[in-house]
Amino acid sequence: MIKDVFTKENFDKLDSVIQEYKGKPGPLMPVLNEAQKIFGCVSIEVQKRISEELKIPLAEIYGVATFYSQFSLQPNGKYVIGVCLGTACYVKGAQDIINKVSKELNIEVGKTSEDGKFTLVATRCIGACGLAPVLTVNEDVYGKLTVNDIDEILSKYE
Ligand code: FES
Repeated sequence: MIKDVFTKENFDKLDSVIQEYKGKPGPLMPVLNEAQKIFGCVSIEVQKRISEELKIPLAEIYGVATFYSQFSLQPNGKYVIGVCLGTACYVKGAQDIINKVSKELNIEVGKTSEDGKFTLVATRCIGACGLAPVLTVNEDVYGKLTVNDIDEILSKYE
């Protein structure tokens, strides 16, 4: 199962971050950024706490948390698989790559596997267009992929 990050200790940390920014202008982004670091995500529970403490409507916080790609709503898996859907990768078949990974791991884009091992995300251009189509697993980069390469790559992390 996914490791429980929603501990009292982490909520205490969040509370002290909130105290630090409370009363200052524009507290929401810095608090969300810190929350993302503390919990590895800004889940609804986390957003609720921020909403109560900063007196900002939950809907507004949810809007911000879902708009910016640096925030995720659930904890990431041990391995985050990013498939670039930037233009160069897209024209070279990135959609097929992402479909294949999704099928092999049985997870939808943006979701984490039940065992907490893999998270699959679509990314914007990561600046490696010469290697299109590109897939990353945490810090590892794989390029010039075809769907036939996917099984072998995934097997390294299983
Ligand atoms: S479009 Fe994928 S790396 Fe640039």
